[in-house]
Amino acid sequence: MGYNIAIDGPSGAGKSTIAKQVAKELGFIYVDTGALYRAMAVHFLKQGLTAEQPEKIIPACQSAEITIVYENGKQQVILNGENVTGMLREEAVGNMASRTSAIPEVRAKLLNLQREMAKKQNVVMDGRDIGTNVLPDAKVKIYLTASVETRAARRYNELVEKGVACDYETIAKDIEERDRRDMTREMAPLKQAEDAVYVDSSDMTIDEVTAKIKSLVEQEEA
Ligand code: DC
Repeated sequence: MGYNIAIDGPSGAGKSTIAKQVAKELGFIYVDTGALYRAMAVHFLKQGLTAEQPEKIIPACQSAEITIVYENGKQQVILNGENVTGMLREEAVGNMASRTSAIPEVRAKLLNLQREMAKKQNVVMDGRDIGTNVLPDAKVKIYLTASVETRAARRYNELVEKGVACDYETIAKDIEERDRRDMTREMAPLKQAEDAVYVDSSDMTIDEVTAKIKSLVEQEEA
C-alpha cells in the first residue's frame, strides 16, 4: 500500500501547483485526477457530443481507454492510444469535464484507475472527491481553497501571461458556476472530508502551503 496524500478543493485553488511541489519534495508521484475527467471530456467532444446528451455519453464511456504514463516525471494522459495531454487545459474541455463528471458512469469508469495508482505507489493525488471517496484511508487529507476573487485573479494573470485575451468578470463568474456544479452534484460532490485539514491559500504563498502540508505529514508519521 502506498502512502497517500489527498488534496481536494475547488477550481483554481492552486491544488496542482501545491500537489506537484509536495510530491517533488517528498519523492512521491503526483496524480492529477482532473486530467482524467478532462480526457473523458475530450473523448466525448471528439464524438461531437454535448453535455446535454447523457443518453449518448453513458454508452460512449465504454469506448474510452484511459491510461496514465510519466515522461520525465510529468503526467501524460493517453486516450485510446493517443497522448491528449496537450488538449486538456482548453476552456471547452474544462467546461465539458465539469458537466460530464457529474454522470455516475463517468466517475465509475475512473475510480479503479485512481485507486490502483494509489495502491502501488506513494502519491499526492488532487481532485474533488479524493479524501471523501477515492482514497478514504489517505494518511493526510487537505481541503485547499481560496476566495473566488483570489482564484479569478490567479487565472486571469495566468492567461494574460500566456497572451490569451480574457476578462476578469467572466472568469470569476465561470469559477462560481463551476464551484456550484462541483459542490451540488449528486454523486461524489466536492466537500471537505471530516478528517481533512482546511487550508485557505488566499493569503499564503506556494511555499507556505507546501510547508504546511509537509508538517502534517511529519506530524502523522511521528
Ligand atoms: O481539477 P480540474 O479543473 O482539472 O477538473 C476538471 C473537472 O473534473 C472539474 O470541473 C470537476 C471534475 N473533477 C471531479 O469531478 N473529480 C475529481 N476528482 C477531479 C475533477
